[in-house]
Amino acid sequence: MARLLVVDDQKSICEMLEIVLRKEGHRVETVCGLEMARKRLQSGIYDIVVTDIRLPDGSGLDVLQQVRETYPETLVIMITAYASVDSAVRALNLGAFRYILKTANFVEELRLTVDRAVEERALRQENRALKRELRKGLENLLGDSLRMKTVKELVATVAPTNSTILITGESGTGKELVARAIHAASGRHDRPFVSINCGAFPETLLESELFGYIKGAFTGAAANRKGLFEYADTGTLFLDEIAEMSLAMQVKLLRVLQERLVRPVGTTEEVPIDVRLLAATNKNLQQRVPEGLFREDLYYRISVIPIELPPLRERCEDIPMLALHFLSKFARTMDRPIHKIDAQAMKCLERYDWPGNVRELENALERAVALEKHEEITAGTLPDHVTRFVPRVSIPEGGVNLEQHVGEIERRYIQTALQQAGGVRTRAAGLLGMSYRSFRHYAKKYKL
Ligand SMILES: Nc1ncnc2c1ncn2[C@@H]1O[C@H](COP(=O)(O)OP(=O)(O)OP(=O)(O)O)[C@@H](O)[C@H]1O
Ligand SMILES: [Mg+2]
Repeated sequence: MARLLVVDDQKSICEMLEIVLRKEGHRVETVCGLEMARKRLQSGIYDIVVTDIRLPDGSGLDVLQQVRETYPETLVIMITAYASVDSAVRALNLGAFRYILKTANFVEELRLTVDRAVEERALRQENRALKRELRKGLENLLGDSLRMKTVKELVATVAPTNSTILITGESGTGKELVARAIHAASGRHDRPFVSINCGAFPETLLESELFGYIKGAFTGAAANRKGLFEYADTGTLFLDEIAEMSLAMQVKLLRVLQERLVRPVGTTEEVPIDVRLLAATNKNLQQRVPEGLFREDLYYRISVIPIELPPLRERCEDIPMLALHFLSKFARTMDRPIHKIDAQAMKCLERYDWPGNVRELENALERAVALEKHEEITAGTLPDHVTRFVPRVSIPEGGVNLEQHVGEIERRYIQTALQQAGGVRTRAAGLLGMSYRSFRHYAKKYKL
């Protein structure tokens, strides 16, 4: 059912359209002129507006314009007895949905067009809802670095599919966050998201957790219990730390993935399940295959689409925005009036190599907000190992020629800056934070 407003100066046409469209199950109101149409549009919301172009007190194009301005989602169908290319073009340019001539069978044509408009509206609404979900899922995933942008694009692409996805990355890089983002951006977003840490359960317990059991299946099984696969039915199951799963469990998991059936411990009966599986690990699974620690068939089954999260030290440009995000989060929860990070503290944060990745950065800011006496975060409240950190370099056994080494690095930077600046030297100098004169000096030195 749609809410319709029909605007036509001929009463007979209004009445005819009202009858036909009501029969289709729509709620229809009719008015005879521009002013009346304006009033109705101010007080009510319509899904579809049908308007004649020639009105006694103005033009249907004005109705169209007002609808476009105030209710951009409402579709407008123009009808006219006087065909004119000019008005048709103007109407369509102003965003009319369709333009129909009042020919002999125009009522039938209008009926079909209204049908199509109803479909179109539903489609647009659905698209908007999908986009909203996608945004909501991705919103929590911060980072503008190229590496994070690539991750986010991948998440947006694979989320709506039903594919199994393997999320890899060092500890604290955001694997669980990505799993949640995929679920939130998928068609299953209003269904359960169930997460289990495979490393936290001994083998037999993991099996009954995942598949459930029936009363008497083993000592202590006092009643039937559903497994997580069943809890996650029609939703998403996230298997965290999948590398920790025993080989025996891996066989059972592979079967579930192939057959889409689970068998609760103690039964022979299998239960069909519809679960989207996401898995994560901070181990190198591929390497575990030849070591005999991870089954090759399962590895291929779950790694169809791998998403690799970069360690924070490889996307240092994201550190300031993440740090400020965590600052505002903890300042809010701890009710502290701190809104800034001073330059020196920020430099320390950017220089440190964050082995614990985003989680470590988050913890450092929580601590800093709790300890800070000033109005901005200062280096004094950051952990010592962060402020004292000196980026490590490795010196080979035979020693290193520092001057030559530094020269080589200089040369590469000058060369890359030139390339990136498309050969424009002033721009290349800007990229390296030096004056045009210094740049010229280096370029000459390295004959570039
Ligand atoms: N890109 C990001 N934007 C915002 N917050 C992030 C991002 N990545 C990680 N975090 C935050 O860092 C913390 C750690 O993330 P998460 O638990 O997803 O990491 P993980 O890779 O699953 O770690 P582990 O391997 O230790 O389980 C969380 O609080 C998460 O919200
Ligand atoms: Mg995790």
